[in-house]
Amino acid sequence: MDHKVNWGIIGCGRIAHSFAKGLKVIPNASLVAAASQTSGKAAAFGKTFNIPKIYDNYQNIVADSEIDVIYIATTHNFHFDQAMLALAHGKHVLCEKAFTINAHQAQKLIERAKQKKLFLMEAMWTRFLPCTIKILELVETKIVGDVVHFQADLCKKFPKDPDDRFFNPNLGGGSLLDLGVYPISFASFIFKNPPLKIMSIAHIGDTGVDEQVSYLFEYDKGETAQLTSSIITVIPPEATIIGTEGYIKVPNFTRPTKFLIFRDSSTPKTIEVPYQSTGLNYEAMEVMKCLSEGRLESDTLPLTQTLETMKLMDRLRSQWNLKYPDELS
Ligand SMILES: NC(=O)c1ccc[n+]([C@@H]2O[C@H](COP(=O)([O-])OP(=O)(O)OC[C@H]3O[C@@H](n4cnc5c(N)ncnc54)[C@H](OP(=O)(O)O)[C@@H]3O)[C@@H](O)[C@H]2O)c1
Repeated sequence: MDHKVNWGIIGCGRIAHSFAKGLKVIPNASLVAAASQTSGKAAAFGKTFNIPKIYDNYQNIVADSEIDVIYIATTHNFHFDQAMLALAHGKHVLCEKAFTINAHQAQKLIERAKQKKLFLMEAMWTRFLPCTIKILELVETKIVGDVVHFQADLCKKFPKDPDDRFFNPNLGGGSLLDLGVYPISFASFIFKNPPLKIMSIAHIGDTGVDEQVSYLFEYDKGETAQLTSSIITVIPPEATIIGTEGYIKVPNFTRPTKFLIFRDSSTPKTIEVPYQSTGLNYEAMEVMKCLSEGRLESDTLPLTQTLETMKLMDRLRSQWNLKYPDELS
């Protein structure tokens, strides 16, 4: 990767800090600007990461001719407008998960990026971690035979603040877009195609968001996936990939550093594959690799896959009659 890439960040919140830290370990990545609409936030962020240019609005950062790629690190409800704004100004875009609030927005963004011949990718960082890559390579070699079932839970308990993004429907809150998107995406890394049949039960809390969801999917050859997401309770974030010849356990499957292969009745084989820095550096490296090769999307996480994930999440929400306020106007 000889090509130097200049990054700009929109939104200086929690994940932006991990991303900026991750960028530091990438040779040829330069974080040249950050923008925040919250007074003082960009300045503090800029000081922490030694960023030369700070903006108090998003219009000015996308107009900065020095920037090649904009990383969008705001809440789900803003991703569409901000990605559109960046594309309109000729910037490549890496947009946090969940990519948008619905498939319609995702489709429009993809069309716009294609029209403008600009790179676009969902920041589903887990897909690019060395451990995930190793797991998927081994699954492909049928190390546990044909995969027949996938199980994963991502449940974290957040303080019940109706204004914070987890419980606030205006910010695209709820467990689906924030946490459910991980096990759903991981299932798509394994089964590749979307499920044919989906069943789900959601608990909608008093702020109107899906606080907890149980998902059951069936794929074209009868394979199944059973997933859970929650923002009101904790379950160890483990995934199990179950095949006809054994199974693989992945502790911390959204940020894996090791996995265990169980075959026959012998003791499991543990494989450790750590990652460097915060781990968000790998998705950024994928963007930079694609740009240096003149590619407008990633083969590892193609836009069709992101779109299918968004369509699936729409189908799930339709089972619970859940719409975000932005979809009602
Ligand atoms: N990859 C990961 O591991 C990971 C982890 C956590 C989150 N995420 C994703 O990253 C994104 C941001 O999450 P976060 O936890 O970093 O969010 P956050 O800290 O709550 O907010 C991020 C930014 O969004 C804007 N924002 C938040 N609330 C707002 C409001 N009420 N009105 C207007 N703007 C508001 C602010 O932008 P300004 O700075 O411009 O004011 C804020 O700095 C989400 O898409 C989330 O799913 C990814």
